[in-house]
Amino acid sequence: MISSKKIRKQFIDFFISKQHESVRSSSVVPFDDPTLLFTNAGMNQFKSIFLGDKSPKNNRIVNSQKCIRVSGKHNDLEEVGVDDYHHTFFEMLGNWSFGDYYKSEAIRWAWELLTDIWKLDKERLWVSVYKDDEETKNIWINETDIDKNRILKFGKKDNFWEMGEIGPCGPCTEIHYFHGKNIKNQKASGVNSDPLYREVWNLVFIQYNRDDKGTLNDLPQKHVDTGLGLERIVGILNSTPSNYDTDLFMPIIKSIEEITHRKYDKKHGVSHRVIADHIRMLCFA
Ligand code: ALA
Repeated sequence: MISSKKIRKQFIDFFISKQHESVRSSSVVPFDDPTLLFTNAGMNQFKSIFLGDKSPKNNRIVNSQKCIRVSGKHNDLEEVGVDDYHHTFFEMLGNWSFGDYYKSEAIRWAWELLTDIWKLDKERLWVSVYKDDEETKNIWINETDIDKNRILKFGKKDNFWEMGEIGPCGPCTEIHYFHGKNIKNQKASGVNSDPLYREVWNLVFIQYNRDDKGTLNDLPQKHVDTGLGLERIVGILNSTPSNYDTDLFMPIIKSIEEITHRKYDKKHGVSHRVIADHIRMLCFA
């Protein structure tokens, strides 16, 4: 078993080796953003930098951000516990460029970490890109060794990321992992529809600010905002499709078994999973 602590550190160290500064997670309750109840993404604490209202101390940052998604634009509440990979509270590993590197480095480094360092099977990885973003598709084809048949285009719902109704946003490219038993059973139509194909890492190319009239305005600079789900990558690197079977949840589930005198059984374990998930969220909130 590779511990979550080690995986978190490997992510941060990888980006430190690419000249990023490691910073702390911000609070899960934003202090100065009336558009958000809870921190829902790693980029929230950097919003004023994206908007050009504040200058960054360093234009390359890496961290693990504690996030809560229970309301608003990004709300996974109904999925929690019913499936084994959505959570109300989770950690988002992220690397940022503030007006520094852009699509090419973000894509190459994500691919390097996943396939060279963590040695994920390239025959299980799929990539989605925004339908109008030919540039990103070409970078995947020309600057990585991904099989081009594994690159798919999707529309705004899947590949244009927005923090909320207003705020910084842009096209994104997502990396998905196939969890099925037999790699021969994969099909492109499974991506973004079949739960065996799971998004693990989202690379967002922030270049617009959506205003309160819904208009997209160009930002003064272009930025990179990425989010890799810690709970999901810990599951993948430990060869389990269930995030609950990792060291991030099993100790809590064991305590729930002791207190309730009910054994955890994956098939009927929705209640154990919901309690484990919500306890983590409430502790941090
Ligand atoms: N901000 C992006 C997300 O939350 C990375 O998916």
